[in-house]
Amino acid sequence: MPYKNQVVLVTGSTRGIGKAVAEAFAGQGATVMIMGRDLAAAQKVAAAIKAKGGLAEGFGCDITDFQKTQETVNKILDIHKRIDILVNNAGITRDNLLLRIDENDWDEVIKVNLKGVFNVTKAVAKPMVKAHRGKIISIASVIGITGNAGQANYAASKAGIIGFSKSLARELASRNITANVVAPGYIQTDMTDQLPDTVKQKVLERIPLNRLGSASEVAAVCLFLGSTAADYITGQTIVVDGGLVM
Ligand code: NAI
Repeated sequence: MPYKNQVVLVTGSTRGIGKAVAEAFAGQGATVMIMGRDLAAAQKVAAAIKAKGGLAEGFGCDITDFQKTQETVNKILDIHKRIDILVNNAGITRDNLLLRIDENDWDEVIKVNLKGVFNVTKAVAKPMVKAHRGKIISIASVIGITGNAGQANYAASKAGIIGFSKSLARELASRNITANVVAPGYIQTDMTDQLPDTVKQKVLERIPLNRLGSASEVAAVCLFLGSTAADYITGQTIVVDGGLVM
């Protein structure tokens, strides 16, 4: 139980990759804070973890709301006094070609994927700085590295996360806090289930391992980055994509 007594906050952990990350940490003894927009959904995931003997609590919080995010983090700190590991996972897509994309779709993606990461990280960094320890892991995407037609907003937000994390890595290193990024390729979740079959087939042809990844394979890298085995790794982006980008 390497994560026993450690408090891990995972945003957007009501489903998909975030849920798998939360379950993986809970499986190794962590006390996991499930954060989702929908309180009932977050409590449901926490209850399922508890039913398996794990430790978890659910919190409802829209991470685009600066004040509410700060209040939610304060609530966690009131109860647990610490947050050892933050996994910034919540994210959305609103895909369209540049000439067709409307202002709302641009703003919404930047607001959730980038400003949301800022809101949560700012709130969590303060107690980490005080504690002189912490690990910040943010989920970006290979699209933030390569770009993608029809995903300019998403690519900009995910590239933004990489730059943000490198800056944190430099700013917070003296406080023994690391900041790293996990950049998944195509992972089997609700997000990729929305892709038409023809698109999925084309994507598969470009993946050397010839399959989509699983959420648990992304979670495994988060477990590593959150562990003492990764104490000397900071400012890095680890790609989990079956060889798609190399
Ligand atoms: P998903 O759509 O299944 O889950 C996203 C989670 O984020 C949900 O729990 C949702 O409630 C939460 N969320 C969305 N907006 C929020 C807000 N304003 N406040 C709080 N929570 C909010 O997505 P999936 O596929 O699990 O993706 C998770 C992360 O991984 C995202 O950041 C996504 O961009 C990234 N990713 C996913 C890939 C994939 O193939 N599925 C590939 C590369 C990156």
